Amino acid sequence: MQKEASKTIFVTGGTWFVGSHICVELLTEGFEVVVADNLTNSSEGVLERITRITGNSVIFYKTDIRDRESLESIFEKHTIDVVVHCAGLKSVVESVKNPLSYYDNNVYGSIVLMQVMAKYNVKKLIFSSSACIYRTGAPVPYTETSLIKPVNPYGKSKLFIEEILRDIASSDSEWRIALLRYFNPIGAHASGFIGEDPNGIPNNLMPYICQVALGRQPELLVFGDDYETPDGTGIRDYIHVVDLALGHVKAISWLDNNTNVLTANLGTGKGVSVLELVKAFTKASERSVPYRVMPRRAGDVAISYSDASLAEKELGWRAVCTIGDACRDAWRWQQLNPRGYK
Ligand code: WQD
Repeated sequence: MQKEASKTIFVTGGTWFVGSHICVELLTEGFEVVVADNLTNSSEGVLERITRITGNSVIFYKTDIRDRESLESIFEKHTIDVVVHCAGLKSVVESVKNPLSYYDNNVYGSIVLMQVMAKYNVKKLIFSSSACIYRTGAPVPYTETSLIKPVNPYGKSKLFIEEILRDIASSDSEWRIALLRYFNPIGAHASGFIGEDPNGIPNNLMPYICQVALGRQPELLVFGDDYETPDGTGIRDYIHVVDLALGHVKAISWLDNNTNVLTANLGTGKGVSVLELVKAFTKASERSVPYRVMPRRAGDVAISYSDASLAEKELGWRAVCTIGDACRDAWRWQQLNPRGYK
């Protein structure tokens, strides 16, 4: 049923892991979806998978958001109602090695996007922010008013963009903005057609576990078991990527009825340790995940998890999938796609 046929949503970074899941839920909701992605961290192969799942297609442009002319041509061709801005570089480790590329891609790219939006009078924006901006070691659970102090260029780029958006909203009340702070997205669409497909050796825990279970990696390296946590390993708030995507559909409705800037954590409100995730995955996949304890990884925080009650109150949204659901769905994606989209 075409519930929102009249609205066009422009998704930057729409072929990325989270972006592609957002596109599926937007198409399912009946929106028209236009996607721009430069494909540096994703594959065009996801597009036909999105069509296979939804029976609809996104309109795709291979575009870097720093390319003003290309962005303007998209805004010329399409009457865009809302922008969901996911495009940007996302590796904490890489950002420390190459900060300038993170500020160029993420911050400058966002500025170009916002300037083009203003030029075409498109003033509704949902921004993919991150839990990485909270101060390491701040009391958990993190609320939206917890201390903010990102320690790496990736997290700083997210904070800078949030601040720019808050200043834009203060200068022009026509802007409607939702800043969604993602915790740790994991899992995959239940179809197994789309999922997480990192380039090279995964930085993040869940895709690495999946590759160990598949036999692509010999064992999981557990970065530290001497943290002040019940089992000594790091604790995170792992949110199913479909729950995360559905939060964006709710945020679009929120923009229609509110004029202030919404800042909201998108997490489960629960903390899960590395070893607890390994155990849940082993149960869901019936595969063993051999691991070896290593020293702590530089920059890691012991515990990070959300208080997501504000999102529930403001958006009428909360994460409903369990860790078991996420492990089962991640494993199905990995089994059906041993080499990702390649
Ligand atoms: C999780 C835990 C590691 C890999 C994320 C991402 C990104 C961001 C949130 C939005 C930690 C441990 C990991 C491994 C391990 N989201 N680990 N062995 O560090 O919370 O970063 O922040 O922006 O999702 O940047 O996620 O998956 O890297 O690590 O033991 O091979 O797993 O020490 O405790 P992290 P992660």
